[in-house]
Amino acid sequence: MSNNRVSRRQFLSYTLTGVGGFMAAGMLMPMVRFALDPVLQKHAGGDFVLTEQKIADITEEPIKVDFTFEQVDAWYKSDVTNAAWVYKSGDEIIALSPVCKHLGCTVNWAGDTAHPDQFFCPCHAGRYEKNGKNIAGTPPLGPLDEFEVQEKDGYLMIGPSRANTLV
Ligand code: FES
Repeated sequence: MSNNRVSRRQFLSYTLTGVGGFMAAGMLMPMVRFALDPVLQKHAGGDFVLTEQKIADITEEPIKVDFTFEQVDAWYKSDVTNAAWVYKSGDEIIALSPVCKHLGCTVNWAGDTAHPDQFFCPCHAGRYEKNGKNIAGTPPLGPLDEFEVQEKDGYLMIGPSRANTLV
């Protein structure tokens, strides 16, 4: 027989340590998984949203196109409706963000009768040229953002926004 006998005290210590560790791991693993889950998810960033706007109906006159997409914020999913000012410039389709670069109000096309060929922000009379360039002397300090666009089966798809590439 071996002389390395485990005392009753050691046996109890080992057993309690093992059971305690097992229970602690059982409690911590779901918490760690829960905390890391959003990080491990594949993000759908860069996805394009299909709109109900027919490409053929887009003219050189900017029109407001609404589009809805699912926004995932950690564990919370919600449908968000956004809009873009869309028009044709030659063969190219331009989609501009309606969010004013001053304080974030929504701009309108031809909203100021004195400047019918510009975007107009009613909050502080900010103005932008058709390509989104902010007009000097009005409050906005930068051009309207631009959306990436694609076509699918004759309909417009709107993608992520980016800094204006037209000005
Ligand atoms: S928020 Fe548009 S001009 Fe101020």
